[in-house]
Amino acid sequence: MKKRIESLPKIELHLHIEGTFEPELMFEIGKRNNIALPYSSIEELRKAYDFNNLQDFLDIYYAGCNVLQKEKDFYDLTYAYFEKAKENNVLHAEIFFDPQSHTDRGIAFEIVVNGITKAMDDAERNLGVSSKLILSFLRHLREAAAIDILKMAEPFRDKFIAIGLDSSELGNPPDKFRKVYEMAAAQNYKRVAHAGEEGPAEYIWDSLSMLKINRLDHGNRAMEDPRLLAELMHRKIGLTLCPLSNLKLKVVNDMKLHPIKKMLDFGIKVTVNSDDPAYFGGYMNDNFIAITEALDISVDDLYKLSRNAMEVCWATAEQKKIFKTKLDNWLLID
Ligand code: HPA
Ligand code: ZN
Repeated sequence: MKKRIESLPKIELHLHIEGTFEPELMFEIGKRNNIALPYSSIEELRKAYDFNNLQDFLDIYYAGCNVLQKEKDFYDLTYAYFEKAKENNVLHAEIFFDPQSHTDRGIAFEIVVNGITKAMDDAERNLGVSSKLILSFLRHLREAAAIDILKMAEPFRDKFIAIGLDSSELGNPPDKFRKVYEMAAAQNYKRVAHAGEEGPAEYIWDSLSMLKINRLDHGNRAMEDPRLLAELMHRKIGLTLCPLSNLKLKVVNDMKLHPIKKMLDFGIKVTVNSDDPAYFGGYMNDNFIAITEALDISVDDLYKLSRNAMEVCWATAEQKKIFKTKLDNWLLID
C-alpha cells in the first residue's frame, strides 16, 4: 500500500508555506542574516516540536519566521517546499502565506510576495508542479489589520486566488472578519477559512453564512452536528483535513479516531493535506500512510480523496482534465 500511496497523483490544498520551514534551512538562513535562533542546535529545535495544542505550535511557528528577511529567503523557503511536493507526487498546490507575520516585523509586503511567487513560477517551469497563492489573515489580530493587508495586496491582485483565516481559533470567531471577507468578495477573491479545528461547529456555520466561504480548512468538529454534515455534503463544500497536524496538536488523540473516513463515507468532499509539514512530522505521503494504516483506507478511498481535491481545487478546467486522467491511469495501471 505504501508504494500505491507514493505513486498516487495528489493535490495539496492546505499548506502554510511558513510551516514548511525545516530546521536545517532555518539555521542556514538565520546564519546568513546574522539572526540567532533561541535554540542552540537543529536537534534542540526539533525537540521543541512537542505541542499540547494549537497555541503551543503557533508560538514556535511565528518565532521561526523571524529569520526570513530578504526576497531570497522567501524564495528558498518556497522552492524547498515544491521540491518536497514533487517527491510526494503532488501535481498542484494551493498554499497559504501569512503576510502579517512578516509585515509586522518590518518586512515589505512586496519582498514576501515576490520571493514566494518567483519560486512558484520556477517550480512550475522546472518541476512541473503548478500552484496558487492564498493570502491568509491572522485571526488573533484586529479586523482593521486584515483590511490594511487587503489594501496592500491591491497592486498585486493577480498573484492571489483567495483569502484565508488562520492562527488562534478559540475566541476569534468568524463574525470578527465579516467586513474584510465582504470587501474581498467584491474584489473577486475566493474565500476559505480555518474553522472547527479547535473551535466549535458553530464557527463552521458562521464561516459559511457570514464569510461565505467556498472551501473549509479543517472542519473536524462538523462531526458534532449532523445537520452541518448534511449541509456540507449537499453544498459540496471541500474540506481540507490535515491528519498528522490533528494528531500533533491533539485535535485527535489517536489516528484511529480521525473523522476523515466517516466523512468520506458520508459523501463529504474531504481531502488530505499536510498543513505545516516541517513541524508535524510529514508531507503528503506520510499523511496518506497514517490514515491508511489507522482507518482501513482502501485503494478506492485513496482515489476518491485525491479526486475530491481535483474537483474542489482552483486549477483551470484544462489542468483538471489532465489531473483526472493521471488519477484514472493510476487506478488502472498500478
Ligand atoms: N491552524 C491555525 N493556524 C495555523 C495553522 C493551523 O493549522 N497552521 C498555521 N497557522
Ligand atoms: Zn492550517
